[in-house]
Amino acid sequence: AIRRGVIAIDGPAGAGKSTVAKRVADSLGFAYVDTGAMYRGITLLGMRTGIAPSDSGEKLTELVRSAELKFEAGSGGLRVYLNGEDVTRAIREPDVSRQVSYYARIPSVRQVLTLLQRELAVADGIVMEGRDIGTAVLPDAEHKFFVTATPLERAKRRLKELNQEGYRLDLDQLVREIEERDRIDSSRSVAPLCVAPDAVVIDTTDLTVDEVVAMIVAKVGNT
Ligand code: CDP
Ligand code: CDP
Repeated sequence: AIRRGVIAIDGPAGAGKSTVAKRVADSLGFAYVDTGAMYRGITLLGMRTGIAPSDSGEKLTELVRSAELKFEAGSGGLRVYLNGEDVTRAIREPDVSRQVSYYARIPSVRQVLTLLQRELAVADGIVMEGRDIGTAVLPDAEHKFFVTATPLERAKRRLKELNQEGYRLDLDQLVREIEERDRIDSSRSVAPLCVAPDAVVIDTTDLTVDEVVAMIVAKVGNT
């Protein structure tokens, strides 16, 4: 059965999932869940505790069982706490971005986070965004969108944000990092990044945020 009032938005890094999902949720009065923040939280925890993606199953079990990580759904998005410390900003740092795909391809990590994501989506009226929401987490979602853009455009968007936060990164390097993350996310064995057969694909390369939001809201309103 199809779950009414459930919207899944997937796509690669920098395609505009978070920005668009938040705006769509606001305009419909739906809750918004950014699942990437959860993978970033696990990654930060691993980096801080010295547990690497290549470590033994036992160490990784320790990582995913850790009760030190808390997720709190709020109006501005998901807040992430590590040992009581608010790490909502820290999980966005470029170092975490470079590591996250290696943690996200570990099956036990995906299993634990997928269950948590389904718990956050028990009530209807939700916009959830990530890589595998329409394909694996909420395959019965009423609406599925896959937003994408060229790697160059996505890197430019990310560079602009990072510059505003005071980071100095090179565009070519960012393009390479984004392509590498796409490659790992698309080729992993469990729930890889791919387009769900019933998803509406939106190429946002030449679109503004307003245009993408309007397309999604119109599609949702028409069915
Ligand atoms: O914000 P950005 O697009 O850079 O990435 P994100 O949405 O925060 O996701 C970070 C990483 O988490 C992705 O590159 C994936 O490796 C992983 N991820 C995933 O595997 N499955 C999801 N549903 C969401 C994120
Ligand atoms: O979540 P994801 O990594 O897919 O993207 P994001 O974190 O929402 O970042 C996308 C950035 O590109 C934001 O700074 C948006 O303002 C900008 N942008 C967009 O999202 N959509 C467009 N059509 C054009 C620009």
